[in-house]
Amino acid sequence: MKIAIIGGTGVYDPKILNNIKDLEIATPYGVVRFKSGEYAGQEVAFIPRHGSNHSIPPHLINYRANIWAMKKVGVQNIIATTAVGSLNLDMKPGDFVLIDQFLDFIKNRTTSFYEGGERGVAHLDVTTPYCPSIRNVLMDAAKQIGISIHTQGTYVCTEGPRFETPAEIKMFAKLGGDLVGMTNVPEVILAREAEMCYATISMVTNFAAGISPQPLTHHEVLETMQANTENIKKLILTAIER
Ligand code: HPA
Repeated sequence: MKIAIIGGTGVYDPKILNNIKDLEIATPYGVVRFKSGEYAGQEVAFIPRHGSNHSIPPHLINYRANIWAMKKVGVQNIIATTAVGSLNLDMKPGDFVLIDQFLDFIKNRTTSFYEGGERGVAHLDVTTPYCPSIRNVLMDAAKQIGISIHTQGTYVCTEGPRFETPAEIKMFAKLGGDLVGMTNVPEVILAREAEMCYATISMVTNFAAGISPQPLTHHEVLETMQANTENIKKLILTAIER
């Protein structure tokens, strides 16, 4: 198994794959249950990040177990999806963004496999956090199926699970953030520590707090996601074919 999809909010359905199997992989951080299936002659793992019925909030996802399990079954390439709010008026609800940088504003998550002791200490270089080769495949796939995507964007990761205050959003915009979400850190970092090629398709579900005229709801996020899941699935499957 060389490819994994980590599905974010709204991307829970492994049925885009054929011959689906249930897998259970033990890791030092707990057991990970996920599905695998076939597409275009390849075995593909599928993990819905929040659980299959969105029962795991962003701050309680077992990021290390998920990435460890993917590594253990031989995954080399991960395509992740994330629902995001937008701080950038050019990135509108419904748009796809292939993020290329992140700002880390998480507070209470372990962000490394290296905690001293036997595992040792490591200082990961994240000059290029997201894998250029998967990003290129996704850009080509988007062209092929006629979906327009933003090819750059800075993702601000907050701890959640609450949405942000308008003051926080103003600060993030001043710091250069384009999008805000709650899950990409530490996922991208751990995938990189595990020496996997990892890229994220962010899907804008709303304008962020204070930019949006009305208060945010998870329902709004889900609604926009649902309207666009067909495109996100098509994009991922076309990328796997390439
Ligand atoms: N903020 C944080 N996470 C999100 C948002 C948001 O506005 N929309 C979707 N995920």
